[in-house]
Amino acid sequence: MIKAVTGTRDILPIDIPRWYQLEKIVKDVFGKFNYKEIRTPIFEVTQLFSRGIGEGTDIVSKEMYTFLDRSGDSLTLRPELTASVVRAFVEHSLDKKQGLNKLFYIGPMFRQERPQAGRFRQFHQFGAEVLGSHDPLLDAEMIIMAYDILAALGLKNLEVKINSLGVPSSRDEYKNVLREYLTQHIDKLSDESKKRMELNILRIFDSKDERDKSVMKDAPLLINYLDDESMMHFDKVKKALSNANVPFNVDASLVRGLDYYTHTTFEIISGSVGSQSALCGGGRYNGLVKELGGADLPGVGFAAGIERILLACENENSFLADDDKAELYIVTIDKTLQDFSFQAALQLRRQGLLVEIDYLSRSVKAQMREANRLDAKFVLFVGGDEFAKGEVVLKNMKSGEQVNISNENFDEIINKIRVS
Ligand code: HAM
Repeated sequence: MIKAVTGTRDILPIDIPRWYQLEKIVKDVFGKFNYKEIRTPIFEVTQLFSRGIGEGTDIVSKEMYTFLDRSGDSLTLRPELTASVVRAFVEHSLDKKQGLNKLFYIGPMFRQERPQAGRFRQFHQFGAEVLGSHDPLLDAEMIIMAYDILAALGLKNLEVKINSLGVPSSRDEYKNVLREYLTQHIDKLSDESKKRMELNILRIFDSKDERDKSVMKDAPLLINYLDDESMMHFDKVKKALSNANVPFNVDASLVRGLDYYTHTTFEIISGSVGSQSALCGGGRYNGLVKELGGADLPGVGFAAGIERILLACENENSFLADDDKAELYIVTIDKTLQDFSFQAALQLRRQGLLVEIDYLSRSVKAQMREANRLDAKFVLFVGGDEFAKGEVVLKNMKSGEQVNISNENFDEIINKIRVS
């Protein structure tokens, strides 16, 4: 038997109502904030991600699905969408069309990580990016939208963590201070962190290794090295969040795994899903548009992991989504009337009813069982003496009430179902 690739999952019909509910809430919230959807290709030129996300990041150095196509071009399945959105923004000169671009997306991403609960190799994100403004209110808007979506899904066990990484110049200064500190403690660091000192020193804060953790606990923090402008920006974000009643904690070690961030970074963590607890993450990236060949324009955004959110909803029992119920099941008593039932179902569906009929030549009893399994509100009996008299019988499955209706009067059938 051929199975799905490790770390990928089928989303079965039974799961779909929850995905629809989540997608509806996501589109409603983004819509109210006037974000417009963008859809970009599933694969891109590899260089887009290595330049955009950063060579030294785990994503680029270890996790990308990169392949040579038949023309010998190096392509990569998108591991995230910020770089792609910025590429599309630059390629189509969206900044020339309007001053500010507020964009959102939903779709699959690919990272070759070690699969575990809440961590997959194909997973889905929804997210938003705003390109063209330095306003700290937009940093706050991202966090507010993410929080509102999670709250609308009924999630409670949430923690919003925020931090500021400032601007590259003060960060570089700080990195030197951190390198000096770590050099003094180098014998106590893991091999991985020793490597990171050269490649991506801030990520040592994310290490799960106990030796690293005990060194990092007393490490100097970037937040104490921010320039005045960055401090002011961060203060405005915090104030806007407080005014919006979004509770948050400042976590000075929140560095995030992608290189493009400047100023605000944030994550929303769930206490209901185990170790892969970040439901979403994001921040400001003022250098990325320029890095990818565009004008010197700022950006801010976030992305959220749908599988993790659905897992949190399941664990908090916060989901109401149910499949749409059949409104009508047509029981064909006399097999020679199958064409009539098919035509009747078609007419009623075209007028907006959810209708099902039998395609398996089942007995009347088995068709009734199927109507019950589908939880159909009404059953229409086609056949027998009634049909010979030009009638069909409509039964209300809840009250048990039955009425005879002319077998040409579909409007009457619809009326009876609609008023119930
Ligand atoms: P990220 O933190 O790499 O950020 O991913 C965002 C979210 O995607 C995570 O918080 C998590 O919920 C989900 N996620 C990531 N990897 C996996 C995985 N292997 N399996 C399941 N879920 C996963 C970004 O992707 C940035 N592009 C966010 C951003 C947008 N920053 C600015 N704009």
